[in-house]
Amino acid sequence: MKKLIAGNWKMNGSIQKNALLIQGIIKGIEAEPNLLSACDFAVFPPFVFIPSINKEIKNAAGKIILGAQDCSAFDAGAYTGEVSPLMLKETGCTHVILGHSERRQYHGETDELISRKAQAANKAGLITVICVGETLEEREAGEAQKIVGRQLSSSIPETATAENTIIAYEPVWAIGTGKTATPDDAQAMHGFIRKKLNEQLEDSQKLRILYGGSMKPENAKDLLAAPDIDGGLIGGASLQVADFLSIGRAAL
Ligand code: 13P
Repeated sequence: MKKLIAGNWKMNGSIQKNALLIQGIIKGIEAEPNLLSACDFAVFPPFVFIPSINKEIKNAAGKIILGAQDCSAFDAGAYTGEVSPLMLKETGCTHVILGHSERRQYHGETDELISRKAQAANKAGLITVICVGETLEEREAGEAQKIVGRQLSSSIPETATAENTIIAYEPVWAIGTGKTATPDDAQAMHGFIRKKLNEQLEDSQKLRILYGGSMKPENAKDLLAAPDIDGGLIGGASLQVADFLSIGRAAL
């Protein structure tokens, strides 16, 4: 399966910084066309930058996938502060991240809400990137698979298919900490996720499972070599053009 190298920009940057970031990524990809034969690239900027990033991407013949970091579970109406999946679609997004651990942790998002958001996103024609992952306490208690299994069965809606859904395994203890799951540990969880998805979806072999959590140029090659790791969801290192491209190169 072709790898997906995805940058979750989180709440970072500015108009100027993010323009420079996307221009740098596009320039790098254009200078090394073989990168695109090894992997797809995606960026997930904050909502307000989506239209301008979309323009840059379009000017570069749409070589990069564009997505948002969240969406509403509602289609339209009196929901102050929300952004609907259709609005994302209209502004150029094809993908949306849902259920990131930062949203679960700081915004109280539950599996049930994530499932409703994913359903709305699928209905609007968006591909969801549904995040799952255990905390350090849960891992140390030997409950990692139990937690991830529950997140998978409760946050993936019935509208999900191998084509409109991507799973990102992001152990919470590895996010932004510099600690990474070893390729063996990550593969063990990805294998478990694939097996679990077999029970829920047809063609789960075709579904991409990304790893996220301190992925960087130094560890990307070993992680991406694991049979069930189909790409990366990258935070910090996706904000540096050279690091992001170098992670793409690790998929070659
Ligand atoms: P870091 O790569 O900064 O650890 O973030 C991972 C992440 O949360 C991607 O969604």
